[in-house]
Parts: sequence; structure tokens; C-alpha cells
Amino acid sequence: MIKLGIIGWRGLVGSILINRIKNSKIIKFIEIYLFSTNNVKNTYNAYNYIFLKNMNIIISCQGSNYTKFIINNIFLKNWKGYWIDASSYLRMNNNCCLILDCMNKSQIIKNIKKYNIFSGCNCTVSLCLISIKNLLKKNLIDWILTTSYQAVSGAGYKMIKFLIKNINNSYNLSNNLLIMEKQLKYIYKKQPLLYNAIPWIDIKKNFGQTNEEQKSIFEATKILNKKIIIDSNCVRINSLRCHSQMLNIKIKKKISLENFYELLNNNFTEIIKNNQNSTIDKLSPFFVSGKLKIFIGRIRKNLTNSNVFNFFSVGDQLLWGAAEPIKRFLEILVEYLL
Ligand code: HSE
Repeated sequence: MIKLGIIGWRGLVGSILINRIKNSKIIKFIEIYLFSTNNVKNTYNAYNYIFLKNMNIIISCQGSNYTKFIINNIFLKNWKGYWIDASSYLRMNNNCCLILDCMNKSQIIKNIKKYNIFSGCNCTVSLCLISIKNLLKKNLIDWILTTSYQAVSGAGYKMIKFLIKNINNSYNLSNNLLIMEKQLKYIYKKQPLLYNAIPWIDIKKNFGQTNEEQKSIFEATKILNKKIIIDSNCVRINSLRCHSQMLNIKIKKKISLENFYELLNNNFTEIIKNNQNSTIDKLSPFFVSGKLKIFIGRIRKNLTNSNVFNFFSVGDQLLWGAAEPIKRFLEILVEYLL
């Protein structure tokens, strides 16, 4: 049996991941050990290096600080196991392979033979790349401009609590609909999360971009192992689950709208016709939440340039953006180790 340690299994990503693993065909080959950084009953101490080192595979959904703290302690002592991380801490490390097997399976297989650090990529990156899988395969893309509308759950449990406080507080607000928003009590950096959109996620980086925005080009380039031009804007909105993205893509040669529709269709996408009923019925975080497909709609030619196409995508960032690529990699790894 392969010993799999999971840290952060009670969190938003960890709890979904553990369910996905329990439903996977590889469950019969693994023995799961739950670790916790707090004193939780029936779990092992996540700072017990000696015991952690007994694991063949460790998945951490605990966040960057834990990974930063623990990784050297385990790896300095020549651990032979595999570390799989859901945080961003290790992603750009030379020895770390980003896992999105539907895009880079051969790179993953090569890395399994050489290295033992693997990391899930940023959620908007995986959702974006999976949507345009065929366009990338056929080398049709000149550049991409994307604007994301990211759910509060992407910012963690604490942000969901802020939003819920805002919602509860909203019952006592004035009946004057135009002043009620000013009375919202609970705030995040001077902003309520309810009735709002915040066009800044994470810390400042170069060229007027935020860290979340810059991850798009860096992580996509690493996964594809070739240069890709992506300019990204990231906005936090108050949907609970699912990140949406408006993408504008410049195609290298003339193609028809019908052809573009076909190219967006792959095993992981669900294409929605660009009409009112289909869009309102199916192209929303509320509808897509909990589903494993990435829904793509509002597909049309851009009016400013006939080689630019627009579309809107919605995907569950806790599934395809986080837990699913890790579960799929675990299946590949377990099959390799058997
Ligand atoms: N960095 C993402 C966000 C987390 O802030 O939404 C992935 O869901």
C-alpha cells in the first residue's frame, strides 16, 4: 500500500480533494494518513517530521506558510517521497513541476522520474488553459487578454465569513436603496464584499500588475514550456464559488466563428450558444458551481478586429482550479509507483 499523507484536509480545497480521492480508482492502493497543524482528534501532528517522512506521498493544502516552514526540514533529510502542493510557494522553483495533466502530461511523466516536488497551478491559469486547449495545440494563438471575476472562496475561508457577515448585516439596512450599501458594517480593507467588485488581488508586481495577474503569463509559460503572451486583469466579485473570465484571443490566421466554436469544444468544456436563454440558464457561477466542466459562452468575433474572438468562461475554481488537477496527478503518480 502507498502511504499518502494529507495536510489541510479540512479546508476548502482539502475537503473537496479528499472526496475526489475517495471516489478515485486508486483508492484501493493507498492508505490515507490525515495530518493537522492544530490539535485535531484522530490526526497526526503536521510538524512531526519523522512521521511525515514515512509517507510515500504528501499532499499539502495547508497554504504557503506551512510549505515554506516544512519543506526544507523534510527535503534536507533526503526524503524519497513525493510532495504535492496546492499553494503557490513552490510553483516557480526549477525543481517543481506544475501539474495540469490535460495540458502537460509528458512533462509530468518526465519530472516524476527526476524530481519529487509538484504543485497545482493558479486557478485562473488552469481554467484558462483548459478552455483553449485545442487553440494551443494547433498553435493558433497570437495573444490573449483575460479579465477574471473571481469568487470570494478563492480568497479563503476568512473572506467567505466576511461576505456572510455582510449579508447578515444587510437585513438591518435602511429601506433607502441608494444609501443602504454605505451602511454595511463589516469591511475588508475598507471595502464591503457584498454589493461590490474589487479590482485588486494579492500584492503589487511590475508593470502595474498584481501578483495574481502576473501568475497567468509565468505559470502558463512554464506549463506549456514555450512563450505565450497573456495580459491578465483580476477582479474579486461576490460569487461564492467559480471563477469567471472574459477572454479576448487574437488568432494568427483567418478562421470562421463556427470553426472557433469547434476549437473550444474539448473533453473538459461545455459550449453554450450565444443567446439569451442559454446564457442566462447556464453561464453563471451559481449554475456551474460543483460541476466538473468548464462552461464557455458569449462566443463571438470582436468588432474591432476580425481575428480577435471573445468568449466568457465559468469554471469551479475549487475543482478544476485546485483539487481536480491534484487528484488526476495523484492517479498518474500512484500508477507509476505500483
Ligand atoms: N488565487 C486565487 C484567488 C485562488 O485569489 O481567487 C484560487 O482559487
